[in-house]
Amino acid sequence: MANWKMHPATRADAKKLFDATRKAAERCAKSAVVVAPPSLYLAELASRAYAGAKIPFALQNAHAEAEGSFTGEISLSQGKEAGASYVIVGHAERRAMGESNETTQAKVAAALSLNMIPILCVGEQKRTDSGEHLDFIRAQLVDGLAKAGAKIKKIVIAYEPVWAIGASSAMTPHTMHEMSIYIRKTIIETYGSVGHTIKILYGGSINASNTTAMLREGGVRGLLVGRASVDSKEFAELLYSIETL
Ligand code: PGA
Repeated sequence: MANWKMHPATRADAKKLFDATRKAAERCAKSAVVVAPPSLYLAELASRAYAGAKIPFALQNAHAEAEGSFTGEISLSQGKEAGASYVIVGHAERRAMGESNETTQAKVAAALSLNMIPILCVGEQKRTDSGEHLDFIRAQLVDGLAKAGAKIKKIVIAYEPVWAIGASSAMTPHTMHEMSIYIRKTIIETYGSVGHTIKILYGGSINASNTTAMLREGGVRGLLVGRASVDSKEFAELLYSIETL
């Protein structure tokens, strides 16, 4: 998953980046790429997405209500109409702007009701020896999933420790593996066996050199990639590295 955040600065550069991403994705049989561009670019990029490999799109955020007086927001259905089939919910950078577990809960439920796939992001700010971060993650998961209902199996969880986002190195695959077990256990305790099959992604300082170790040893099915996804060369290398797995 390529999370472009608020990049690139121009529409022309967005088209170039998208075309390079699509070409790299076409050469890769082992990975499925989802692009989360700034929503202003979405409709235009979606119209270019079918030239070769079909690339699905994600919204980086959306409002849970279908429409209304919410200045500056876009709705899930507006994003869906523009071409998005996924939505990132509760990214750490949104949570830092005030998004709560209550809002992620509403967004997850609204996305599922539109048959969109929510990618629920969870992750602690910091870790202490007492393990409080585990309770924090549990609350983010349990609250975020509380209104998912029968469609819960479609949800993707992205574990992104805030301290590893935009950092100089990623979390170790070993620690990610422990987190992935914890996340599954939490979902199984609350929602039963669906927890065995839910897809878990890791995000935070992933690049071409740490991708294979994380996929091999981290207990994850995919990666949420920020900076390395807006550097077309790095992202192509990252995708090619997956082919060697
Ligand atoms: P990063 O961002 O890869 O630049 O650390 C990851 C994210 O925020 O999803």
